[in-house]
Amino acid sequence: MTVYRPDKDSFLLKNYVSELDLQGKKALDMGTGSGVIALEMARKGAEAAAIDINPEAVEKVSRKSKEEDLEIQVIESDLFENLDESFDLIVFNPPYLPGEEVDDNRIWCGGKKGTELTERFLDKVDDYLKEDGYALVVLSNRADYEKIIDGYRLDIVESKELWFETLYIALYN
Ligand SMILES: C[S@@+](CC[C@H](N)C(=O)[O-])C[C@H]1O[C@@H](n2cnc3c(N)ncnc32)[C@H](O)[C@@H]1O
Repeated sequence: MTVYRPDKDSFLLKNYVSELDLQGKKALDMGTGSGVIALEMARKGAEAAAIDINPEAVEKVSRKSKEEDLEIQVIESDLFENLDESFDLIVFNPPYLPGEEVDDNRIWCGGKKGTELTERFLDKVDDYLKEDGYALVVLSNRADYEKIIDGYRLDIVESKELWFETLYIALYN
């Protein structure tokens, strides 16, 4: 499986994360891809962890963190399956486009409606957040983002209008 190349969604979340005070905080980047957000978390002084289902992404982030001399715990996992810790912050820029979920398109396809993987993530995220912890998730108006916002009582903290879609960062706590 190819590794997701950082795009507007990645940079929206990365820029948001770069404004946070993460010194000494435990932070997890779910679906890390190239590691663009996990690396930023580590640069900001977080005790960073990164998860991806794609072994090539895991390999890439491990290599990049060594090159930058940053410590990141990189885990190959289907969402939280191989994780047994809790975090102050968990971020996820999920695959959110509708389509048939097969190995090759997992970097962009979030399920038949586009939102299934995000829902699986939100169903479980509480178990991996510390008491005052929170999660940030990227949503798009190309999938049924309003249902997610209402269903999980998310707050939109950032948005970006592009010519073909509007992206949101939503907060869960
Ligand atoms: C849209 S990309 C985002 C990559 C990176 N975080 C960024 O912002 O550039 C979604 C990522 O989620 C990963 N992913 C897809 N399904 C997953 C799952 N079930 N568990 C963990 N990661 C998954 C993909 O391999 C891909 O790297």
